[in-house]
Amino acid sequence: MPQIFPRKANALPVVSLLGAGGGGLLLIGLIWYYFSPQFTDVGYQPEQPVPYNHAFHAGELGMDCRYCHNLVETSEHANVPSTQTCMNCHAQIRTESVQLLPVRESWATGEPIEWVNVHFLPDYVQFSHAVHVNVGVGCETCHGRVDQMEVVSLVEPLSMGWCLECHRDPAPTLRDPALVTQMGYEAAAEDDDALRQERLEASLARIEAEGIKPPQNCSACHY
Ligand code: HEC
Ligand code: HEC
Ligand code: HEC
Ligand code: HEC
Ligand code: HEC
Repeated sequence: MPQIFPRKANALPVVSLLGAGGGGLLLIGLIWYYFSPQFTDVGYQPEQPVPYNHAFHAGELGMDCRYCHNLVETSEHANVPSTQTCMNCHAQIRTESVQLLPVRESWATGEPIEWVNVHFLPDYVQFSHAVHVNVGVGCETCHGRVDQMEVVSLVEPLSMGWCLECHRDPAPTLRDPALVTQMGYEAAAEDDDALRQERLEASLARIEAEGIKPPQNCSACHY
């Protein structure tokens, strides 16, 4: 085992306590959350080679996430779109834009644009977009209101405690898989107890009928 977790073996006691369940879980969860190295990364917002704006394209223009991230439902990794996807429009729109110069260069040379990755998990963690998206965990649950972000930033810690918090009780965040890319779905129920209750019951019914049971055993997420 140790070679699988090269970074910090001293996290193990906390981890085994987490696995043990029972009272004190919230406290341990909070401690985990605040001491997790990822906590400090929330807000991480690297500069990109092109000032691509989600708030405009996904928000104002209302483009579906899957127009560009078209592999989220079928593969482990969500893809960042190829230059071709941008050129579907930008071969005609804003063809003189300075901001789009790197896109036209990439198009001409065939060299992909070097987007900077915002979200990443350590190599020893297994995570699949397809599994989560197809069962009805919305993009916004893990990535926040991307349709309002001019520049994408990290809104969740992506720590083990965060994954497990949902795996223990997925009902409040599950939605109809047809609505996974809908933004603002969660906000709609924030001040509406009846709607929240209705959704919770629908989720519980699906969990029962489809046998949805997110894993909590170590080997599910760590090989
Ligand atoms: C027109 C294409 C396009 C659409 C539509 C689009 N995206 Fe993106 N997305 C990109 C590009 C290009 C990047 C890489 C540059 C960046 O981070 O802004 C990206 C990056 C991201 C990232 C960060 C990836 C990383 O590096 O970790 C997330 C998360 C994301 N998009 C989610 C969404 C969601 C959710 C939607 C729908 C609300 C959406 N995107 C709609 C093009 C698009
Ligand atoms: C469905 C069509 C469509 C697609 C696909 C699309 N865009 Fe756009 N984009 C637009 C429109 C419309 C504008 C606004 C043009 C205007 O303001 O006149 C725009 C504006 C922009 C601008 C601002 C340009 C300026 O000079 O103000 C950038 C940068 C940009 N897009 C980058 C991208 C990138 C990168 C991709 C691919 C990941 C992409 N777009 C894909 C339609 C699209
Ligand atoms: C259960 C949480 C969760 C959901 C739901 C989710 N993502 Fe992600 N996303 C992540 C994590 C965790 C990463 C980092 C993955 C890694 O490093 O392997 C990530 C990374 C990404 C990336 C960067 C490329 C990659 O795969 O590393 C993009 C783009 C992205 N997500 C888009 C989306 C879109 C679009 C949706 C909705 C259709 C979505 N995500 C739904 C958690 C989620
Ligand atoms: C908001 C809720 C939520 C979050 C956050 C979340 N998951 Fe899940 N996860 C689920 C659900 C729901 C399932 C599906 C369980 C089923 O179908 O029985 C699942 C399934 C899985 C599976 C089993 C996949 C398979 O192939 O059967 C793995 C592994 C997993 N998640 C890893 C992760 C990791 C790693 C993270 C954190 C980076 C994470 N999850 C965050 C809800 C979540
Ligand atoms: C639902 C998915 C999931 C399950 C189940 C899970 N882990 Fe993790 N684990 C993660 C993620 C994600 C990280 C990466 C956290 C980070 O980067 O901060 C991680 C990190 C770790 C680390 C490294 C901590 C550090 O600070 O570097 C250890 C050790 C670990 N897990 C052990 C375990 C053990 C032991 C179990 C079983 C009791 C377990 N994990 C179950 C998702 C999971």
